[in-house]
Amino acid sequence: MVCLGNICRSPLAEGILKEKIKQHQLDWVVDSAGTGYWHVGEGPDQRSVAVARQRGIDIRDQRARQLRSKDLEEFDLIFAMDTSNYRSIVNMAPRPALSEKVHLILDLIYPGEGRSVPDPYYDDYGFEGVYDMLEEACDQIIVKFR
Ligand code: 4NP
Repeated sequence: MVCLGNICRSPLAEGILKEKIKQHQLDWVVDSAGTGYWHVGEGPDQRSVAVARQRGIDIRDQRARQLRSKDLEEFDLIFAMDTSNYRSIVNMAPRPALSEKVHLILDLIYPGEGRSVPDPYYDDYGFEGVYDMLEEACDQIIVKFR
């Protein structure tokens, strides 16, 4: 799960998908990262922590890290939160074929529409809606890839 800062959207996506794979007893490895370096080592944004907690998941033990090109080798699926992240990730691919692993996460709900999860960093009220979209997308990830 990849966004820009790895403190707002992708930590929620990681937490939600981990909860769902537990419910479905799958043995997937789920992680998140940012394309940017500014927040490396920080915990998730307090507003993400709060909305997750309201929905029953605890994401406080996550720490932000920056995406490495090696992640494109090691992970089978990479989900970008927005079109800008998508382009950054594809541009990092050490081999062009690896870019086939990269998906825009909302394409799972709205195939081919190229929609982005809005960046809630500057919008205190955006976090609930982001959670709802990510939860719906994670349900589809389980349906499509299990
Ligand atoms: P995220 O949100 O990509 O969902 O983690 C952001 C976090 C930090 C910044 C931008 C977006 N920033 O500019 O520092």
